[in-house]
Amino acid sequence: MNKKFYITTPIYYVNDSPHIGHAYTTILADVLARFHRSAGDEVFFLTGLDEHGQKVKQAAEKRSLTPQAHVDELAPRFINLWEKLDIRYDDFVRTTQQRHKSIVQAVLQKVYNSGDIYIDEYEGLYSVAEERFITETENESGQFRDVKTIKEKNYFFKMSKYQERLVKYIEEHPEFIQPEHRRNEMLGFLRQPLGDLCISRPKSRMDWGIEIPFDKEYVTYVWFDALINYISIPGYLSDENKFKKWWPADVHLIGKDILTTHCVYWSTMLFSLELPLPKTIFAHGWWLTGHDKMSKSLGNVVNPLDIIEQYGVDAVRFYLMREMILGHDSNFSLDSFIRCHNDDLANDFGNLLNRVGGLITKNHGGMIPPRSESPAPAEQEQEILALIGKLDAQVYSLISAFKVNEAMESIMELVGKLNKYIEDQAPWKLAKTDIVSAERVLSTAAFGLLTAAKLLQPVMPLKCQQVIDVLSSPDGKIQPHPALFPRIEVEKKV
Ligand code: MSP
Repeated sequence: MNKKFYITTPIYYVNDSPHIGHAYTTILADVLARFHRSAGDEVFFLTGLDEHGQKVKQAAEKRSLTPQAHVDELAPRFINLWEKLDIRYDDFVRTTQQRHKSIVQAVLQKVYNSGDIYIDEYEGLYSVAEERFITETENESGQFRDVKTIKEKNYFFKMSKYQERLVKYIEEHPEFIQPEHRRNEMLGFLRQPLGDLCISRPKSRMDWGIEIPFDKEYVTYVWFDALINYISIPGYLSDENKFKKWWPADVHLIGKDILTTHCVYWSTMLFSLELPLPKTIFAHGWWLTGHDKMSKSLGNVVNPLDIIEQYGVDAVRFYLMREMILGHDSNFSLDSFIRCHNDDLANDFGNLLNRVGGLITKNHGGMIPPRSESPAPAEQEQEILALIGKLDAQVYSLISAFKVNEAMESIMELVGKLNKYIEDQAPWKLAKTDIVSAERVLSTAAFGLLTAAKLLQPVMPLKCQQVIDVLSSPDGKIQPHPALFPRIEVEKKV
């Protein structure tokens, strides 16, 4: 395959405490990035922080800190969490970095020179919480908080000019906005006339942002600044070769809450810059607690650190990937986490290693029996070998189609079949009467388990490496190992 694969996450508001929702998008991007790396693709995985805007300024003021000191203090909360979650990004952007700021200014100047930015006085409804002007209809939806009427002079980006072109683009590129129901939602949204986008804030009201290069009285609207990270970091207007190599992005992974900003604001900005659009914008659903979105303002967040510390990072990564059908909402609960942990990881995956390792150690001197061609495999073994043979390609194609939970199911199906194979063949009995057949069963089971561990490694890097180490030591000996996923006893839960 050997392609390039450029994947991004949203850059998170530095003010928020990172929760399962943020962790989910980042783990998902990491899993996709690792899958592509293991398939030989060259990967660029970018994540980071969105550090400008009114909310940051207000929070800093409350703490009597400068906004920069405030964001410098907060940034490590995300960076440390990503480290604990084993996130292997290739670059981490903070929008206060000079390498980003100078490109935002260059972009503004370019769009201004091309005639796509103009100044105008505007009176309208402004949502402080969302940091943007909203329409009457949006206000009536009741989804926006802290709405005020504001009248001021500002710079506007001619977004409306590109409306028709965008609709045509979306219609002609079914892979551009995924899943399909989100694409329909955007086409629906674009049936209404699109206004122009207010892209500045007067410093007299809000000065924590990137200065507009052609008017020192203004800073850049936070979304116009943040979206540009996707091109500023891979070298737009600074490193032509790097940029040519990576852009357009293969996928912008986002939550459904920021669909419009990505599909409409960002796409029209790219049209104005005469740059190609990202191949895919994929919007996943929300993690809910009960019926509500998990969010700081609702006070119902699950802190990922608590469950990682208690149950280990790989189990949490596995649960999040296995549980959410990409594109739909999912409920996060400790009960369902424990069920998934005990059923899939303790009883199936962990137990398979225990059985294979235990039986080989007990009855075969600890040496993994070599694979042999004769006698010809019996039916059940043939079925397993056929499954193993096609699994790699199947998993890659499911992952490329963003069907992560189905990819995991297909790997777990192999694990389930291997457990059943061992139960049916009872190699502990065979060892007493037919040592060749017993060896045959265990060598197939070990081979299947190794295949499953390699395919699950992007999701559970540490635990799968342990399995690989147990099963593939150079001397062919099973290495001693502790239980992979000890069952969680329900009484112990927090
Ligand atoms: N800073 C903007 C994004 C700019 S991108 C150029 C932003 N930041 S955010 O901190 O609010 O993060 C939003 C993202 O976090 C969502 O799009 C989603 O990926 C993730 N999630 C936050 N809460 C979530 C859930 N409850 N469930 C799933 N993911 C959610 O918007």
